Amino acid sequence: MNKYVLIIGGNGFIGSHLIDHLIERGYKVRVFDISYERFRNPLPNVDYRLSKLDNIPDLYEAMLGIDIVFHLASASVPSTSNVDQIADVNNNLIPTLNILNLMNRLGIKKLVYFSSGGAVYGNTESGLIGEDVPLNPISSYGIVKASIEHYIHLYKRLYNLDSLIVRPSNPYGPRQGHFIAQGVISTFLRKVSQGEELSVFGDGTATKDYIYIKDFVSILTKLIEVNAQGVFNLGSGTGKSINDIIEEVNSATGQISKVNYTPQKSYDVSHFILDISKLKRTIGEFTFTDLKDGVAETWKWIEGLNTNSEGKK
Ligand SMILES: NC(=O)c1ccc[n+]([C@@H]2O[C@H](COP(=O)([O-])OP(=O)(O)OC[C@H]3O[C@@H](n4cnc5c(N)ncnc54)[C@H](O)[C@@H]3O)[C@@H](O)[C@H]2O)c1
Repeated sequence: MNKYVLIIGGNGFIGSHLIDHLIERGYKVRVFDISYERFRNPLPNVDYRLSKLDNIPDLYEAMLGIDIVFHLASASVPSTSNVDQIADVNNNLIPTLNILNLMNRLGIKKLVYFSSGGAVYGNTESGLIGEDVPLNPISSYGIVKASIEHYIHLYKRLYNLDSLIVRPSNPYGPRQGHFIAQGVISTFLRKVSQGEELSVFGDGTATKDYIYIKDFVSILTKLIEVNAQGVFNLGSGTGKSINDIIEEVNSATGQISKVNYTPQKSYDVSHFILDISKLKRTIGEFTFTDLKDGVAETWKWIEGLNTNSEGKK
């Protein structure tokens, strides 16, 4: 099990949990990121390489001796990507092509790429969205993610690169919100902790698929360990509305939040629940953390942050 993995963008929300889980499973971990984690001090058993993806020599150095590359770095989120599509392509698509190129030169045969479960499908009529639903992204973020997926398939055809492309739904949990606001659950909990009202785009019936971060990284590791290849939805396969979330936030925090409803945003996919039958066929059944428990754990972490008990702020 002593595989050496490089986690590009490993000091963000998902990466920080992935590091913990992979170390627990006996992997050797190197991280390539612009900066250290925001909420924790550097870990003694991780080899950190601080640099930017456009620094090709640093990236090359970071890839030496690596068996699996995880690519999590993203310079945009759906809400910002439409503002400057050229920057989105330059900062996400081009660096990914550099990663693919270097992997090929160095003979690294396995890539795990973090695409997006909501953004690549766009608004679809399907109740449950399977991996074979036609892609119809409605933001530059989704278009770039979909394009990257196609390039990864091209590298499979041209150079026999093994790849696992995961399309995450909405992971949530402690340490979310590293750099840019992403994730309604942690945003709401932070607002409550600061005594602010909650803003809801739409009427609160938008239903999405949420997955607790510890479930997310555990399932991802299972996929790697059965050597799964190709595209996988990675979510809970169940939907919760924003109003359901507000109910759990109120229950976890013991407060009744004030809510301000405003019009829906055009870049946001309003309803999606991932079909995870391919995932279940590949790794077997999985018991997911209840939304109630996941929200309560996240609240505990936010309260700890306020009393400064976990690392840096
Ligand atoms: N969190 C979610 O809800 C969610 C949902 C779907 C898909 N994803 C995808 O999963 C991946 C990880 O998400 P996250 O929530 O952990 O994001 P995050 O923003 O918390 O972490 C991304 C990390 O990438 C690093 N990074 C960005 N640009 C870089 C560059 N040019 N060079 C080096 N490092 C760079 C950042 O410093 C950061 O540590 C992203 O690709 C994201 O698009 C996330």
